[in-house]
Amino acid sequence: VNVGLVGAGPGDPGLITVRGLELLRACDVLVHDRLVAPELLDEAPPHAVRVSREGLSQESVNDLLVDYARLRQRVVRLKGGDPFLFGRGGEEALALARAGIPFEVVPGVSALTAVPAAAGIPITHRRLAAQITVVAGRTEHADFDADWHAIADQPGTLVVFMGLARLGEITAALLEAGKDPDTPAAVIARGTRPDQHVVRAPLRSIAQRAERLPPPALLVVGHVVSLSEILDAPRPAAAAHR
Ligand SMILES: C[S@@+](CC[C@H](N)C(=O)[O-])C[C@H]1O[C@@H](n2cnc3c(N)ncnc32)[C@H](O)[C@@H]1O
Repeated sequence: VNVGLVGAGPGDPGLITVRGLELLRACDVLVHDRLVAPELLDEAPPHAVRVSREGLSQESVNDLLVDYARLRQRVVRLKGGDPFLFGRGGEEALALARAGIPFEVVPGVSALTAVPAAAGIPITHRRLAAQITVVAGRTEHADFDADWHAIADQPGTLVVFMGLARLGEITAALLEAGKDPDTPAAVIARGTRPDQHVVRAPLRSIAQRAERLPPPALLVVGHVVSLSEILDAPRPAAAAHR
């Protein structure tokens, strides 16, 4: 394997996988997302070349991976969460496959489950949700924009990625489509990190309450959110653990 497309997990450096850490500790080149925990960057060997993806086009990142792999360097592409969930890992895998370069995809702990969990929200709690709808709140092509009317009709839990900048628009579209304004909702910013912030409010007021939160943030809508009143309460055992 010349290239590892490795999921770094949602923020807490302890949430990378054993396989991911193994590849990271053995790499010559590390190409990483901006928001990957600094502790993980330190896990690469001292000689490793570190390149931030920030400011580079997707094509440049693809070329970088292919070029370093052709120089027989062991490359790790370290990506937030899971590489294939709203992470463009598929585009990088396609570029490597087309160039005939062997690669391995190392799944990561996605924000999808880990970030609600860190706020005390079990997203498919039995009897409250038997379905999850996962949506990108922002896309680069209008063709792929979510159909909020269709989404508002779905039962279960709604999880919106990349929606912080459009929270007002998104919740207004859901309410207009008939979603109950009293549905419990939460925005979790910087989930699993020491500076995690959680705002809970009914759908009708969540956008206003959460508008000042810093990115990255996840919007969760559904009855499972109400469990966080119990599960997100400070617990002596958890406090002792830290
Ligand atoms: C480009 S997507 C990448 C998702 C990633 N591949 C994953 O599996 O979690 C970035 C979005 O993920 C969500 N996100 C990622 N990390 C997060 C965190 N620690 N707390 C809250 N939301 C997060 C935010 O909605 C953010 O805008």
